[in-house]
Amino acid sequence: MALATCLGSFILVIFYFQSHLGSAEEQFLGGRWHGKPRRSPLQALYDSAQLEPSSIQAMHQSRRELLASTCKTYTRKRRVLTSDDLKHLVVDDTHGLLYCYVPKVACTNWKRVMMVLTGQGKYKDPSLIPANEAHVPSNLRLLSEFSTSEINYRLRNYLKFIFVREPFERLVSAYRNKFTRTYNTAFHKRYGTKIIERHRRDPSVEALERGNDVTFEEFLYYLVDPVTQREEPFNEHWERVHSLCHPCIIHYDVVGKYETLEDDAEYLLQLIGVGDSVKFPSSSKTTRTTDGMAAEFFKTVPLFYQRRLFNLYKMDFLLFNYTVPRFPKIH
Ligand SMILES: *[C@@H]1O[C@H](CO)[C@@H](O)[C@H](O)[C@H]1NC(C)=O
Repeated sequence: MALATCLGSFILVIFYFQSHLGSAEEQFLGGRWHGKPRRSPLQALYDSAQLEPSSIQAMHQSRRELLASTCKTYTRKRRVLTSDDLKHLVVDDTHGLLYCYVPKVACTNWKRVMMVLTGQGKYKDPSLIPANEAHVPSNLRLLSEFSTSEINYRLRNYLKFIFVREPFERLVSAYRNKFTRTYNTAFHKRYGTKIIERHRRDPSVEALERGNDVTFEEFLYYLVDPVTQREEPFNEHWERVHSLCHPCIIHYDVVGKYETLEDDAEYLLQLIGVGDSVKFPSSSKTTRTTDGMAAEFFKTVPLFYQRRLFNLYKMDFLLFNYTVPRFPKIH
């Protein structure tokens, strides 16, 4: 199975040419979308923005433009997508949507919403779906499961969206969630033991065995250590958005941000035409990692390591217009 998947990713080469409305219009002659006389979300987005853009439309327009121009500046070679690159794209064939999920950026709630959107009435309220159910692979379809022509069709005609977050804050959130919660024993065993073995001087036998008391700095040392990435790709909870969602190859129509989550979610649900019936779940404020909290975690991290970490996540900073106060010269 693993071998087949592996071979498949070598053989399957996906050519995806960007063409905004041209092909969408061909496909939906007469303005029908799945037999209904209305526009697809992709058409809704680009039609409405042309007349008199509201401030939220203008903001999304400028996010798209910044993303496109940054990609142009920093990526020289064009590469083609393989099915392996599409494992984070969740498909909604009912509404014509592709969502690239990024862990630690409200992804559980977006998966819940995608389950409501694709469930054909099975679910009504996203907030009532248990978190673990949202992460059951068979509950959602991924773009990588489709054939090449089906993939190309969806990449051209569906509205593609992504949600991003300030990279250092996302790292703090990943650290808190995976290394400071006692119940996450799988992560402690899989990553914690290795991190302690490599990055702690004179570790105790118990710490080596359990891997459950990794400090934030040890976690960062692990990330910036070149050996880490040579061994295997980063775990998705700290992998760069650039590597998870390929935003310079897949042209996202809506770039949502964690910092403006409520507004962006509402904007998107309205574009899809479900603004009145589907409500984005409000996240619990008590456990949320805030920017102030992230700054506190980074306060004691030596500048040398911050700089190396910044370089590691540089594309995510640049593509999505984030800056680190300590490195203002980057733009
Ligand atoms: C980038 O961020 C700055 C500061 O937060 C903001 O003023 C500017 O409008 C943003 N630019 C884009 C294209 O989103």
